[in-house]
Amino acid sequence: NRGNRANRDSKDAALDAFRVPAGEGAVTTDQGVRVDDTDNSLHVGERGPTLLEDFHLREKLTRFDHERIPERVVHARGAGAYGYFEPYESLAEYTCADFLQDPGRRTPVFVRFSTVQGPRGSADTVRDVRGFATKFYTRHGNYDLVGNNMPVFFIQDAVKFPDFVHAVKPEPPNEIPTGASAHDTFWDFCSLQPESTHMLMWVMSDRAIPRSFRMMQGFGVHTFRLVNAEGRGTFVKFHWKPRLGVCSQVWDEAQLTAGRDPDFHRRDLWEAIEAGAYPEWELGLQLIPEEDEFAFPFDLLDPTKLVPEELVPVRPVGRMVLNRNPENFFAETEQIAFHTANVVPGIDFTNDPLLQGRNFSYLDTQLIRLGGPNFSQLPVNRPIAEVRNNQRDGYGQQLIHPGPSYAPNSVGGCPAAMGGGRLPEGVFEHYQERVDGRAVRRRSPSFADHYSQAALFWHSMAAWEQEHITAAFAFELGKVGEQAVRQRMVDNLVHVDPALAAEVARRIGVAEPAPDQGQDQGREQAPQQESGLRASPA
Ligand code: HEM
Repeated sequence: NRGNRANRDSKDAALDAFRVPAGEGAVTTDQGVRVDDTDNSLHVGERGPTLLEDFHLREKLTRFDHERIPERVVHARGAGAYGYFEPYESLAEYTCADFLQDPGRRTPVFVRFSTVQGPRGSADTVRDVRGFATKFYTRHGNYDLVGNNMPVFFIQDAVKFPDFVHAVKPEPPNEIPTGASAHDTFWDFCSLQPESTHMLMWVMSDRAIPRSFRMMQGFGVHTFRLVNAEGRGTFVKFHWKPRLGVCSQVWDEAQLTAGRDPDFHRRDLWEAIEAGAYPEWELGLQLIPEEDEFAFPFDLLDPTKLVPEELVPVRPVGRMVLNRNPENFFAETEQIAFHTANVVPGIDFTNDPLLQGRNFSYLDTQLIRLGGPNFSQLPVNRPIAEVRNNQRDGYGQQLIHPGPSYAPNSVGGCPAAMGGGRLPEGVFEHYQERVDGRAVRRRSPSFADHYSQAALFWHSMAAWEQEHITAAFAFELGKVGEQAVRQRMVDNLVHVDPALAAEVARRIGVAEPAPDQGQDQGREQAPQQESGLRASPA
């Protein structure tokens, strides 16, 4: 396709070794044996039984029988594309990350956009969070920024993720419903988990029904850490801003589109790239000096909170362009494996308890989804950086490792670690954070405020945006069978805004919460028209 031919880069060149030449000629078996006939099986006489001896028939059917692999446990439906990232300026002051050093130097990327809840065959334009995952093929190894199109998340601790996803997914007895999040289990869980309130405001807003992947923001959600060559850390929040602006569908339009063209978003991305209208995003950073860790009225480690842009402006640092469609959906978009723990020198983690659990979960799930430990050798996952280590064997091994595979050894031929003294450029060393404490299973009290930023979001909306949110709550909760769940949810909303709670209560026929129920819950702190919080461009 046009995009592929015009925009080659180092990742594309590396894929050449794996491309099957399009061609005619004789069909062969997997062993390279040319086959005389692939339309008729080998049988006795013209009408007799088929012979087990027909290895071509057996191989063809076996390979077909094994074509499917498990879909992702979440984010099963997606679409992706290749492109590049280039920084505007050197960020060496904050980070030694290779791809953020030289203005204009391009680093190849692959981005996969996704819905979270539905299966692989579900519709694109449902009300849902969208994944926005970027793999940077840097010279110092692959860096994955595995984000969403909303800046916060439903839960604060990874140990709750299986509960949350079980509540979001279709109900076990009948797998109904799919698509929108309108069902009892989801609202039951959220109404019992006030920490989800801020995220619910975003999910009920127009952000959850984007017009196009090309018109979505992306967020790293967690606070991460940049580390410079001297080892100094700076907290960072990652933002992607679409050049085309943030645009959404209205609810009726989204429903109509889901019926008329369930592939609406993936078609839009594909066709834009084929037509040369390459989608573009600006990378922005909120940089927070380590001394300011406790300077905010919320905890930087709490993934249900954002850092208001009024407090820390977003600094534009580079741009990303997607300019090549994949050639094979399965090989590339389905087999790509993102992982929050794929970091490179210059980028490190924080102790956000959601991030810490994610750093385990992605590799763990990919071991089963992609059939064993060698999926990093799949073409789309291979770094352009050199890979040398003593990891060996396993299902699907593609490489031939010579010589010994242990260290230390005295016979040579084995890669060695770089430890000791000052490390050369491009070597990853974990950030030397000082931590001290007892092992406790307890949430930090600094994570306790679940409503202030939900209220901040609500009060930053224009009247028509507030109406869309109210209508979405009423529509979704109106589908919940259990009156007690509807009531509990409305009782939570009163802490965001009593007027919102009262209006939703009226529309779905439950009791209006007492007007004084939501007082002193942070409403007063909410400034109007927060620029970083708007659901649509002004
Ligand atoms: C995909 C786990 C929270 C963004 C996945 C997958 C798992 C997972 C198992 C499937 C990966 C695969 O099969 O390759 C978790 C856990 C979380 C969590 C345990 C919390 C404890 C989040 C958050 C975000 C996020 C907060 C956004 C910041 C994504 C994205 C994908 C994904 C974008 C799709 C990646 C792709 O396109 O292949 N997650 N997730 N997840 N997750 Fe999470």
